[in-house]
Amino acid sequence: MSTDLSEPEGRGTGAGKLILFGEHAVVYGAPAIVAGLPDGARAVARPTSSETSTLTFDATREPSSEPTSKTERDTVERAFRAICEVFDDRLDGPVEVTVTVDLPIGVGLGSSAAFSVAIARALADWTGADDHIERGVEAGESVFHGNPSGIDQLAATEGGLHFFTNSDPLQATSLDSPDLEVGICVAGPPASTREMVENVARRREHEPDLFEHLELLIGDVARAASAALREGDEARIGELMDINHGALASLGVTTSELDEACHVAREAGARGAKLTGAGGGGCICALLPDGDHSVLEAWRDRGWSAACYQL
Ligand code: MEV
Repeated sequence: MSTDLSEPEGRGTGAGKLILFGEHAVVYGAPAIVAGLPDGARAVARPTSSETSTLTFDATREPSSEPTSKTERDTVERAFRAICEVFDDRLDGPVEVTVTVDLPIGVGLGSSAAFSVAIARALADWTGADDHIERGVEAGESVFHGNPSGIDQLAATEGGLHFFTNSDPLQATSLDSPDLEVGICVAGPPASTREMVENVARRREHEPDLFEHLELLIGDVARAASAALREGDEARIGELMDINHGALASLGVTTSELDEACHVAREAGARGAKLTGAGGGGCICALLPDGDHSVLEAWRDRGWSAACYQL
């Protein structure tokens, strides 16, 4: 079946994500916990008279919601083409896609998965090829990440809070937790997830046994956190976030800015804090005491941008 061009356009959205526990170790099979964010990406797909499919960014938010460097633009363009290719058998010709990303890019909040999901859903909405969405997203994510665990894709597609294991088949259990207030601080410059995952893989080759211990530790922390989340035990969740950050430091993915932002958060009363996502820059997250936004103020006083999300 081919595209019904009488349909004026297709629309799709994808959610951003916050990894609360288990990044990097999840690539090697340890469980992790992820939450979808209310901000993400939106895409609109329309027919075009151009000779090739085109991608346009509609940037709405600071610090940056569109790729800036040539390398970033090339990567995004390749991911876009990879997604479109999956829909080739259902598209009559080139397509024009406009994407709005409501998250800062490259800081660990899942903008790339949100981008891929929004575009794949917009193309599916337009062509009726819902069964192509998963493959379309995987095609985009492989360009961004190389070897993604699937955790970003899960959050971008489903939203909500999940306990996730990168097994064959992938396993995801939805977690019920009392409302939590989590602060997010953009403390470092954007970093490439692909490079950070490759750095960990290289370090792991030199220290396979020690890295395996660290991954087991991070997995145990995620298991303990899933119980603490269900019980709403905020003191324990915070403590586990601190431990997880220490293990991520041992994997070599933190930076002095991310460490400092964690210290600032703890001193301002956070129950716990850790980097989130691939590290090397980007964001940290902190569990905030109920209704107390001193942590956000402390971050902003240092010149970092900060936001608060209810999970
Ligand atoms: C990136 O958001 C999370 C990592 O664990 C990579 C992955 O799971 O694909 C660093």
